[in-house]
Amino acid sequence: MNAPEPSKSPSPRARILAVTSGKGGVGKTFISANLAAALARRGLKVLVLDADLGLANLDVVLNLHPKVTLHDVFTGKATLEEALLSAPGGFSVLLAGSGLVEYSRLTPEVRDHLLSVIDQVTPRFDIVILDTGAGISDVVLYTISLAAEVLVVVTPEPTSMTDAYATIKVLALQQGRREMRLVVNQVPRVGDGRATAAQLQQVVDRFVSPAAGGAVTLTLLGDVPSDMGVREAVKKRRLLVETLPGSPAAQAVTALAAKLSP
Ligand SMILES: Nc1ncnc2c1ncn2[C@@H]1O[C@H](COP(=O)(O)OP(=O)(O)OP(=O)(O)O)[C@@H](O)[C@H]1O
Ligand SMILES: [Mg+2]
Repeated sequence: MNAPEPSKSPSPRARILAVTSGKGGVGKTFISANLAAALARRGLKVLVLDADLGLANLDVVLNLHPKVTLHDVFTGKATLEEALLSAPGGFSVLLAGSGLVEYSRLTPEVRDHLLSVIDQVTPRFDIVILDTGAGISDVVLYTISLAAEVLVVVTPEPTSMTDAYATIKVLALQQGRREMRLVVNQVPRVGDGRATAAQLQQVVDRFVSPAAGGAVTLTLLGDVPSDMGVREAVKKRRLLVETLPGSPAAQAVTALAAKLSP
């Protein structure tokens, strides 16, 4: 893979996986959190970093009320150790703040702080999941550049597919990414994600690969059905894989974790 080196540490341990989508509200945070719990259940040491630095949601989904966030670490008010929290699913989290406009732009400070945090956590985990915000702002793109692997969450809706395509194109052309993984969320039936993935690959083959000077490949990690249980779990602020482990969406996320595991 042509991804940039995720860390300057001598022996980085964690696989760094950025979860992104272009379009907002398609399920990045739901998948990041539940995937983390499913991976933790497989014995992996997992960290989820809420990379939606100014409009964080992970704390809400996990019903955590952090006294210390990444913002405090970045501003020197707290140590990284104080910000690292245990989440209900048996994984660790670094939570972000909400309503912080200073993170809408990529400043040299934000860049350095993010890099430094990643450098410090990499040796301590097996997998670090970066749950990015929506869009392709500089902050989102920089966060993704710190990850060796990219997981694009898309739904079968044309607007989500258009935004996923735009994201994939930028990542191929700006970051030299040649392989990206897809999760098709909110499909009517398990298996329907294949059509969405094939459609996206077709446009990528036609318009992105020639411009990128080589084949850009999307690998379908799996799909996750639209499931009432997801909304119920979010409302209860519980992880779906814990509160409704037998539900279709929980089983699908568990299958994603199995495919991602070494
Ligand atoms: N498979 C699913 N079935 C049903 N509802 C879902 C599913 N996935 C996500 N949702 C709904 O979509 C909402 C938004 O999901 P989530 O917050 O994970 O999206 P996001 O991509 O992280 O959004 P943002 O771009 O704002 O960060 C969830 O609260 C849930 O109600
Ligand atoms: Mg989110």
